[in-house]
Parts: sequence; C-alpha cells; structure tokens
Amino acid sequence: MSAARPPEGAHTAAEGEGIPSIAARPPEGARTAAEGTGIPANPGAPPRAAMGQSHPHESARAQVAGAAHYIDDLPELKGTLYAAPIVSTVAHGRLDGVDASAAMALPGVRAVVLAVDVPGDKMLAAPERDEPVFAIDSVQFVGQVIGLVVAGSVQQARRAARAVKLDITALPAILSVPDALAADSHVLPPVSLRRGDAARGLAQAQHRLSGRLEVGGQEHFYLEGQIAYALPLEQRQWCIHSSTQHPGQVQHWVAQALGLERHAVHVQCRRLGGGFGGKETQAGHLAVWAAVAAHRLGCPVKLRLARDEDFIITGKRHPFCYQYDVGFDDTGRITGLRLQMAANCGFSADLSGPVADRALFHCDNAYYLSDVELTSYRCKTHTQSHTAFRGFGGPQGVIVIETILGDIARALGQDAQDVRLRNLYGEGRSVTHYQMPVQDNILPALLPQLERQARYRQRRQEIAHWNARSPVLKRGIALTPVKFGISFTATLFNQAGALVHVYTDGSVQVNHGGTEMGQGLHTKVAQIVADELGLPLHRVQVTASDTSKIPNASATAASSGTDLNGRAAQIAARQVRDNLAAYLSALDGCAAHDIRFEDGQVRTPRQQRRFDAVVQAAYAQRIQLWSDGFYRTPGIHYDKATLTGQPFFYFAYGAACSEVVLDTLTGESRVLKVDILHDVGRSINPAIDIGQIEGGFVQGMGWLTTEQLQWDGQGRLTTHAPSTYKIPTTGDIPAHFRVELWPEANRADTVGGSKAVGEPPLMLAISVFEALRNAVAAGRGTDAHAPVALNAPATAENLLRALSGQ
Ligand code: MTE
Ligand code: HPA
Ligand code: MOS
Repeated sequence: MSAARPPEGAHTAAEGEGIPSIAARPPEGARTAAEGTGIPANPGAPPRAAMGQSHPHESARAQVAGAAHYIDDLPELKGTLYAAPIVSTVAHGRLDGVDASAAMALPGVRAVVLAVDVPGDKMLAAPERDEPVFAIDSVQFVGQVIGLVVAGSVQQARRAARAVKLDITALPAILSVPDALAADSHVLPPVSLRRGDAARGLAQAQHRLSGRLEVGGQEHFYLEGQIAYALPLEQRQWCIHSSTQHPGQVQHWVAQALGLERHAVHVQCRRLGGGFGGKETQAGHLAVWAAVAAHRLGCPVKLRLARDEDFIITGKRHPFCYQYDVGFDDTGRITGLRLQMAANCGFSADLSGPVADRALFHCDNAYYLSDVELTSYRCKTHTQSHTAFRGFGGPQGVIVIETILGDIARALGQDAQDVRLRNLYGEGRSVTHYQMPVQDNILPALLPQLERQARYRQRRQEIAHWNARSPVLKRGIALTPVKFGISFTATLFNQAGALVHVYTDGSVQVNHGGTEMGQGLHTKVAQIVADELGLPLHRVQVTASDTSKIPNASATAASSGTDLNGRAAQIAARQVRDNLAAYLSALDGCAAHDIRFEDGQVRTPRQQRRFDAVVQAAYAQRIQLWSDGFYRTPGIHYDKATLTGQPFFYFAYGAACSEVVLDTLTGESRVLKVDILHDVGRSINPAIDIGQIEGGFVQGMGWLTTEQLQWDGQGRLTTHAPSTYKIPTTGDIPAHFRVELWPEANRADTVGGSKAVGEPPLMLAISVFEALRNAVAAGRGTDAHAPVALNAPATAENLLRALSGQ
C-alpha cells in the first residue's frame, strides 16, 4: 500500500520527540520509529502473547457486577445541585422573553440560568460558530436549550423547568430536505466531486435507470444518556466529568464559554455507556451548560438528561435524500452516474461537513465509478443538529450505490451478486473517484468465499422455489460488501499520545488520548503494552481519559482508536523497554537486541531475571521507568478544495449475506439468517472484534428496519422514547448469525497488522435492506424488472408501500 511510503517532507513518529533522560541506543540492526512508518515488532519477545487472545473486556466483570462507575455513580461533592433544561417548544421563532417567576417559586429551585449568565463566549466553540450556548433571541428547533433550572434535586429541577413560560413568536420553519433545497437553506455550501464525463457515460449507456431514495436518521440510544458534572475548584480552576468521546473538545468548549484558558479546565472520563458518535460533539453542550450553571451558583452542578430530553435535544444520524441517474451496459457494469445527495443537517453545521464528505467518499462503496458526477447538499432545517453516528456518513454513501446495483440487476434479470462482482475495483480500475489508489482490495477473494460459505447461489434457487409456492410470505436473500476508509478525513486529527508508567513493583499504568465507550479500546491498548514489555496482561492497567495527562487528544472516533492510541502506547512502552535493555546490556556486557522480554522475565545471554527485579535495579540506577509516546498516521493527505487525495491510511473490508422473510399482507418482516466474513486484519482481540461486528451489524439492522424518527408538522419529534422508537431487541437477532474473520494481516503498517473494526460492520446490514427489497420484488407481482421503490427504514408501512408500488 502506498501508505508504506510517507510523502516527501513527512516525518515519522519518533522525530523530534524528547529523548528519554537515560536514552538507550536502539539495538543494532533494529529499525527505530523514525524509519519507515512505525515501530518494529518487539525484537526480543515472542510477539503477541497477549495480542491475538480473546481476553475479556477490561471492565466486563465490573460492569456485570454493577461495580463499574459511570458519571452518575461518582460520589457527589457536598453542595452539588442538579440542573434540568428549559427547551423551545417551537421549531423556529423569535424569543421575546422568558418568565421564570412561577418556576422560581417552586420548592428547591435555586436559579434559572440563561444566555446572560454565560461569562465568556455566548456562542459555542463549534467550528462554524453557529450555535449559541443558550438560545439568545431566536429558537431554531423544538428542543433547543434556552436555559437551565438548577435545584436541590433532579425532580425539582425538571418540574420547575416545565413551569418556565416562554414568549416565542413563531416564524416559518423548514422541516424537510425538499423544503430546504427549495428555499436554498444550507448550513454549508454545496460540494461537488466529479471524475471523467458522467454526461457522456450516461448518454452512451446501453441502459439507464433513474430514481430517488430516502434514508432516515437514527437515534444513538446509548444506554448511558448524556451527562456532565461540573466542579468549580480553587482559583478559577475547573474539573469536568463528562461522558464524552472527546475530552479535549469539552475542555476547549468549557474554557471558551467560561472565558478561561484551557489549562484551567480539567476533563476526565473513565468510561462511557456507549457513544456511537453521539458523544463526539453533543457531550460538549452538556458540559458547557453544567459549567455555566456551576459558575453562576459557585457550586458543583450535575446535568443528566432524561431519555426523552436526550431524544429531543441531541442530534442524530443525518437523514439523506438521493436522486440519481445511472447508465450501465448489458453486463450490469456502471458506465456513468449522476448522483445528488442531500443531507438533513438540522439547524447548525456541527460535523455535517465531514459527515457529508465521508458520504461522498463512500458512494462508490467497493465499486469503480469511471464517469461520475456527485453533488452534496448540506441542508439546513429547523430540527436537531444532526451529528456523527457510527459510519459517519459512510453508510449514507454505501446504501445508495447498493440499491442502485440491486435495481440494475433486477432491470437486467441477473443475479445481483454477479453485477456486484463485475463492478468491483480491479485491474486497470483501481483508483477511486477521489483519486486514491485502492491497493489492498481483498473483495475479489472475500466475496466468492462468503458466497460459498453461505451457499448463496443454492439458497437463491431454493428461495425462488419456496416463493413460488408461498403466496403471502416471501423470502429474499442478498450479499453485499463493505469497503470503509480508515482515518479521520481531517488529516490533522490523525495523531495520538500515550503515557506508560512502570512502577517499581513492575506493574504498569497506561494512559492514552482515547476514550472507552464499550468498544474495548482500553483492553486492546493494555494487550499491546503487555506484549511490548513481555508481561502478563493483568500487570497492565489503563486509566481514565484525562486532559491533564494527554493534551489535545482527538475524538475517539473514525474507528481509529486502536490504530492511533495503541500505536502511541506501543511507542511509549518501547521506549521504557529500551531504557531497561540499555541498562542490562551494560550490566551483562551483551547487545541490547539480544535481550528478550517475555513471560514477565527478562533474559540476557547471561542471565534470566524477573521483570520486577530488573525494574527495581534500574530504578536504583536512576533509569527512567516511564515514557510518553506520540504517533501520527503517515502518508495521508487530501485537498479540501477538490476533495481529492489519499484521505485514508487503508480500507477495512467485509461482506454479509442476509436472508429475510416478509409477510406481504401485514408488511412485517424478520431477518432469518446472517453470514458475515469480515476483515479486521490480524485481530488483537478476536472476541472483542467479533462483538464489534455483531453489534455494528445489529445496530445497522435497526437503522434500516425498525428505527424510525418521525417529526410532526410542527417539527416536534414524536418518536422520543423506547415506546415509539424501536431499536432491535435480542429477539430480533437472527437464529443463524455467523461471523468469521478474514485471516490476512493488514497490509498497511498498523499495530500487529490489525485493522479498525468499530464502524465498518454497521454497513454489512445493508444486505438486510437489499434482501428485503428482493422479497418485495418477489411479492409485488408486477413487472419483475422495475426498480423497487423502498425507502429506509423498511418499516411495515414502507414495505407495504413498496409492495403496492406507491
Ligand atoms: N462499540 C460500543 N460498544 N460502544 C460505542 O459507543 N462506538 C462506535 C464503535 N463501536 C461504539 C462502539 C463508533 S461510532 C466508533 S467511531 C468506534 O467504536 C470508536 O472506537 P474505536 O476507534 O476504538 O474503534
Ligand atoms: N470520522 C469520525 N469523526 C470525525 C471525523 C471522521 O472522519 N472527522 C471529524 N470527526
Ligand atoms: Mo464514530 S461515528 O466516528 O464516533
């Protein structure tokens, strides 16, 4: 992969790093971090004593025992007060006044905190500066936070918040993508990306199809809702406990709202009860609100949203509307594509720019698009500001090309698997529409393997026979691939830091810039450090994310947590090991590279010692037993103006084969069988990776089947609780659910040859949507070659509509 060769002028990880106080010369012949793209495998230890093993998640036992602490479990400081949000009841309007007198008269109420109480910048430090901390003179969606009530208990605060009277003059609201497009309402300017000549590709095509598709958003439904606990300390110093994927951004936002320098704000998070992208920026809002209230009252304030409030206030996955015109030949190969993607961004930009960019980068999915013209609209509507959600726009790019290919196959009367295979990247067709070479493509081997494992062809025949004899129930099967680009598209975020501390008893503490949200990052980082030092895993402890330990850390997002922080921690551990090796090589008169760290022992050609004994002796010789580590992804770059370059370090691949059954009278459906073959490179922890694949798949299935966000004509989200918003339950998990890992290591230089796993599997669930469309085609009894007009999510209502061709 070209990533192995850093671009001119790029320097690699170790360059410019502080030299440890007693610097060890790297062992003769060993490559250092300054060469190549990373650091070499531990030369002295058997690689992967801990890595590659299915160790349980570091918190698994504590979590099932109820002993793992989330923010709301932390012991509260004396004098802590509780806040509840006052929210707009109007989608768009002029805020003429807030009457808090009735609320203030209620028991326990201590203050009503409004925009005037923000001591620093009244605008949030969001990139586009388009969101006020609290609404100032206008409101832009139902649920916008106008202020907080602070009281002696959560219940008192919530009751009083409902007693606040708002004087709002309603203005016309834009509530849908078509309305936003008609009104030229955008949070960011439209972006286009083209390659070749789409007009010619379409004009000369043997066949053409055009269509529209709507794909709904998705509520994150993290089990732990959004929460922040703000503690004013002495001398204008602050501590913020935040359930956030991005402590550094919480620090930034709180400092700006309080008018402080960032060094005055210390943010901590031991774990999140799920984030899924929903706590990448949205956690910052809560932290700022709690901090402003704590500032006003001079005491600790905790803000925990009720589930309904969380639904109503926070952004979701972007809903998308598409319009396309595609040309293809007799074999189903695409010869020209014109595609318009319009994202419903809600009232502010938030992360919509990079989300919509990632949709552009993924609307090829696994396929070569020779002549393509893409336009991306970032529509402003008067709804919640939509945000990161697992896949970050990628799923919204992948789904449209998969539905197009499904309809092409139908139009030609061919097996969709053949059409997909013919469109894959391959010889002479290996550069993406954004000019990145696809050099690690394993799909031409992976897809046929899954096809065999899942008996796709035979089952397709069997299903056709079964459907012919089943007038009401219809089955469908589909096999779809995923190719997902790994790296933050904003190149600067692809950096990470870590600290490795070895204590004199030989136990190890690691801290890194990532956050643990259930995905197993801390477990993997501990495995990496354990192998680097040749220690059993239990000797390594990862501690809470903390802005005072690792500064300026990126969000834990883009699936890059392990690639970035794992590598930084590996570099830090390696430096401590080198210090110890240098000390022992002098002592035993041997080369440092002849020293092996394994099984908790350190072996030189002369002697074997316990790791803790070496550490104690080295400490007595004043050897540095701790180190930092810093890593930046090499070789990535992209031009924001033209959206071309190499935004990704590598691609993660996978494919799923799903079979569904549809009741054509009621529209009800079930997923019957799922077979997955997914590429995580050389797995650091197979159990955790398989858990991510299963969880990602099921979450994607929810997005495309039962999870429906419904806003009414006034812009009120009517599905704001589990009673009306249906995430998958255990009963929805198919009885046959097989996940296998592709056996090959990453060809890019990552920790142990592993690949990112957090987001890509979500898109495997597009196979369920395609299988449902195939079931609809079997059940509608009209022209078998016509496209299936099914919008996502495939609820019973939408399936019935598609069946009746409405
Ligand atoms: N898994 C769990 N259990 N909980 C989560 O919140 N978030 C997902 C994914 N898997 C998430 C998860 C998202 S959106 C991302 S980007 C990655 O985890 C982030 O973690 P990683 O980079 O360490 O994989
Ligand atoms: N993925 C996830 N989160 C992000 C990204 C990305 O590419 N860019 C900025 N935040
Ligand atoms: Mo994940 S959407 O990148 O937090």
